[in-house]
Amino acid sequence: MTLNFAILGAGRIGQVHARAVAGTPGARLVAIADPVAAAAEVVKAAYGCDIRSIDAILASKDVDAVVICTPTDTHADLIERFVKAGKAVFCEKPVDLSLARVAACLKVVKAEKGTLMVGFNRRFDPDFMAVKAAIDAGQIGAVEMVTITSRDPGAPPHDYITRSGGIFRDMTIHDFDMARWLLGEEVETVQAAASVLTDPKIGELGDYDSVNVILRTASGRQAIITNSRRAAYGYDQRIEVLGSSGMVAAQNHGEHRMTFADKSGFHDAPLLNFFMTRYIAAYANEIAAFVGAVQHGTATPTTGEDGLMALALAEAALKSVAEGRSVKLSEVM
Ligand SMILES: NC(=O)c1ccc[n+]([C@@H]2O[C@H](COP(=O)([O-])OP(=O)(O)OC[C@H]3O[C@@H](n4cnc5c(N)ncnc54)[C@H](O)[C@@H]3O)[C@@H](O)[C@H]2O)c1
Repeated sequence: MTLNFAILGAGRIGQVHARAVAGTPGARLVAIADPVAAAAEVVKAAYGCDIRSIDAILASKDVDAVVICTPTDTHADLIERFVKAGKAVFCEKPVDLSLARVAACLKVVKAEKGTLMVGFNRRFDPDFMAVKAAIDAGQIGAVEMVTITSRDPGAPPHDYITRSGGIFRDMTIHDFDMARWLLGEEVETVQAAASVLTDPKIGELGDYDSVNVILRTASGRQAIITNSRRAAYGYDQRIEVLGSSGMVAAQNHGEHRMTFADKSGFHDAPLLNFFMTRYIAAYANEIAAFVGAVQHGTATPTTGEDGLMALALAEAALKSVAEGRSVKLSEVM
């Protein structure tokens, strides 16, 4: 059965998902919605789909599933409306900026027996999947320490930052999800530090651009996350997991794998510049996983509950920064 898709929002990530849907066997891109006509036209021109309003998509019998790629503050309402309309929903992270709103939204999804997958694309990156497979196969023994380095090449536009909920809910949320996945145990305490080092305007908007977080599980496993909104050398995405009998790591991706050497040393290719290129395979894999789950009626590999837990870690990190102490996850849940 072919799954017919509509994409809501034709911005940065909407265009990435349009490409993934169009390239996934068993999926067909039927429609795009965006109030900015020029943005919708880009997707229509590339994939030959219709441009429709949200209301028209809700009523469309030829749409089975939607991918929500609109600004964060629209996600929870859209999830509820589309689940009630009987559509399978893939929603970009985060589900909402309020834990209470996420919980209420998940209740609606459950009551409607709806399908909701949350876009934690990094779980579908081939390198990180290999790391996880090595852990699950016992290749490094028991997991003890996870180190996640995640630095963006540059900050998003200021108006995006205003609606994003801040760095912990917008950016670190991916790393919180990765940490939960790799630790294999729920986090008990969160300690965070945050600064504005790259752009004073980000501070004026009430956000941070440079953060470090230490997560600890009940058994003592730890994860360290280091984030910056600026890495002058490109999109820096590395993971290392230390276990009782070894270590497994995934390194950065360059534009190519050629190295040349001269008197000044060895030179590698520049890093892939951002998520749109670095995670192409991950976005394709996550849409394929969503299609598979809907077609076979199985659980989606990432869920609304994963979205809730990652947001709770972001809330705990914010509280830790505000109060200058280690915060138990139970204090914010
Ligand atoms: N998983 C990831 O790697 C990843 C990467 C980037 C963004 N995101 C998430 O995706 C969401 C969108 O981010 P973005 O960077 O693409 O933003 P963006 O600003 O580039 O795009 C958002 C688009 O949505 C459109 N829009 C606004 N309201 C709409 C509505 N009611 N219906 C339809 N379209 C509407 C806007 O006109 C715009 O074109 C955010 O929640 C963000 O957190 C996830």
